Amino acid sequence: MVTAQRVGIIFPMHIMNVPRIVRQFIAELRFLNPEYVFVIVTGANPKFGNALSEVEKCLRHAKVKLNAGYFIQMMASHFPYLKTPKAKQPTNNIKKPVKRYCRLLKTFAS
Ligand SMILES: Cc1cc2nc3c(=O)[nH]c(=O)nc-3n(C[C@H](O)[C@H](O)[C@H](O)COP(=O)(O)O)c2cc1C
Repeated sequence: MVTAQRVGIIFPMHIMNVPRIVRQFIAELRFLNPEYVFVIVTGANPKFGNALSEVEKCLRHAKVKLNAGYFIQMMASHFPYLKTPKAKQPTNNIKKPVKRYCRLLKTFAS
């Protein structure tokens, strides 16, 4: 039972969609009184899928309204066809999304 009024669900986009384990998790959740529900999807590229609209459907199915959805672009180190960044680049690539992620969490926590 989720008793919190502000709820955040954060997960990586997998195969252009919401990972099955996340779908199952949402289907099993019971929300008591959700006032503000947000989702943060991480992934290689927001154009590589529609996880946000899919998770909204999962939540709707659980009778929960999605109030806000964000996409945070990650390096997606697993993609073999993407160029591996040069030695210094990963630091910058990681710093930006982490900063944004922390900013978002601060907003929701306040
Ligand atoms: C099996 C698998 C499928 C993925 N599919 C997508 C995808 O369709 N679109 C996308 O943007 N990212 C995809 N990703 C990238 C993940 O979302 C990304 O790995 C995750 O957000 C964490 O970033 P990191 O790999 O830099 O740790 C996939 C990752 C894995 C492991």
